Parts: sequence; C-alpha cells; structure tokens
Amino acid sequence: MQMKLAGKVAIVTGASRGMGKAMAVGFAKEGASVVVAARSEVEIDKNLPGTIYQTAQQIKDLGGNAIPVRCDVTDETNVAGMVEKCLDAFGRIDILVNNAGVAFHYPIVETPLKRWELVIKVNLTGAFLCTKAVLPSMMEQRLGSIINLSSLAAEERDTGTVPTGVAYAVAKAGLDRFTWGLAAEVGKYNIAVNCLKPKRVVDTEGMRFWAKEEERQGWVPPDKMVKCAVFLAAQDASGVTGVVATDEELSQWHGL
Ligand SMILES: NC(=O)c1ccc[n+]([C@@H]2O[C@H](COP(=O)([O-])OP(=O)(O)OC[C@H]3O[C@@H](n4cnc5c(N)ncnc54)[C@H](OP(=O)(O)O)[C@@H]3O)[C@@H](O)[C@H]2O)c1
Repeated sequence: MQMKLAGKVAIVTGASRGMGKAMAVGFAKEGASVVVAARSEVEIDKNLPGTIYQTAQQIKDLGGNAIPVRCDVTDETNVAGMVEKCLDAFGRIDILVNNAGVAFHYPIVETPLKRWELVIKVNLTGAFLCTKAVLPSMMEQRLGSIINLSSLAAEERDTGTVPTGVAYAVAKAGLDRFTWGLAAEVGKYNIAVNCLKPKRVVDTEGMRFWAKEEERQGWVPPDKMVKCAVFLAAQDASGVTGVVATDEELSQWHGL
C-alpha cells in the first residue's frame, strides 16, 4: 500500500512526549522524515517522561527517518536553528505541526503574570515563530501543510471556564484565528493550514500531570489523533484548508 506521506519532511514541535510523539511516529510510519523538536534532552521530572532522543530513536527502530532537535518554540533563534537543521538534514520542509503546548490549571486570580505570558508564548507565539520560519521554504516550493493543535477550551462558552485555565483557552482561541488568517494568506502558495482539536481528553503525560486517576475516565490514547493528523499533513491548498475541527468531525466528514 502507498504510504500517505512518502518522501515528505515534517517538523513536529512538542514531540518529546504525548500527542507530538504519537504524530511524529505516525508520520514516520507513513514515510515522512521527521524533525523531533522539543526542549527535553534528558528526563528531569519523572512525571513528565520523554525526550527528543527517545522519540527519534523509536522512529529509527521502526525503520524510519528522524532527527532530534532541541528547540524552545518561544525562542526565535532556537526556531531558526531548528529550521536550518531540518533543511541541512532533509533538504526541504513539507509539514509543520505546531503541537508544543502548556497549560496552567488555575483560576485567573491565582495566575501570575509570568504563567499567563508563558502559556500565551508557547501555545500562540510559538506557533507564529515556527510558522514564520518555515514559510519561506514552503512558499518557494509551492507546497506545504501546517497543522495547529488547538482545543475545545477555545470555544467553551457555556460554563465559561475550563480546567486547563483561561490563559490556555485564550491562547487556543488565538490559534484558531491564526489558522484562518494564515490559510487566507498562504493559499496562493499552495500551503494548507488547519487546526486539529481533540474531541475527548487525550491521555498524555501533560494531562496526567494535572489530573488525578479518578478524573481520567473517557480519556483516549494519543494514537487516536494520528489518523486525522496524517490526513491533514497530506493536504495542500487544493484540498482541505482553513478548517478548525475536531478529530471526530474530520473523521466523519472525510470517512477517516
Ligand atoms: N491532551 C489533550 O487532551 C489535549 C486537548 C486539546 C489540545 N491539546 C493540545 O495538544 C498539544 C499536545 O498536548 P499533549 O497533551 O500531548 O501535551 P504534553 O503531554 O504536555 O506535551 C507537550 C509537549 O510540548 C512540549 N513543549 C512545551 N513547552 C515547549 C516549548 N517552550 N518549546 C518546545 N516544546 C515545548 C513538551 O516538550 P518539552 O517539555 O520537552 O519541551 C512536550 O513534548 C498541546 O498543544 C495541547 O494544548 C491537548
């Protein structure tokens, strides 16, 4: 069977654990060469396991192509270095997944400015910086797919509050809007831009960090997001673009 991402090159941010790791491995299984980007080179906190080297090694053990690249997505110099390493290793960039994310599970009144700024910086500004850095390559080759990992927290209006905190919801709402604006700007360069939102809580190291065992009912494994991510990664602007949707919606609409 034809691999869906054969010959493509993908950068996945936040790929040291969680959904980023699952997508990086999933893309490699579909034939993509993958840049595994995140900050963790060694395991510092046993509650947040996973490093860029472990993910890259897992891909290599499966017979795939991957390079680990240490990158803090909030640092423009780091991001430029990551793009340079990708181009040096693989010669092109076809797919960017803006997956790196953090939340701060406290009410606004208990949110220090430093935490507010970090959440906005990682989830939203990080996506802007990584996108800006890959666009010249994608525009030149007139092909690309950018996927932003957003959240239903961005549109939770009934209760007004979400466990992941309002800063996180605000950042993800910004990411939704960023997706629409960017899709409109870069469609003429044949670049697709879409937003993927998990319909259910995904059982990742990051979510486990904040939740007690009894709160984990109904959570789904990170692999559950891979099919939709691969589908979006395979798009260009002649296909699906400018869409902000959950994995369940995408699966239903496109028979995934
Ligand atoms: N899990 C869910 O139910 C859920 C639901 C909706 C949306 N999402 C979104 O999906 C994405 C992945 O979530 P997850 O649950 O898999 O998260 P996770 O387990 O906490 O993993 C987050 C990843 O982001 C990386 N990261 C954090 N800060 C970074 C920075 N400054 N620079 C580079 N990488 C950074 C972490 O790696 P390092 O620490 O090694 O840097 C890690 O690999 C996030 O954007 C999240 O908001 C998740």
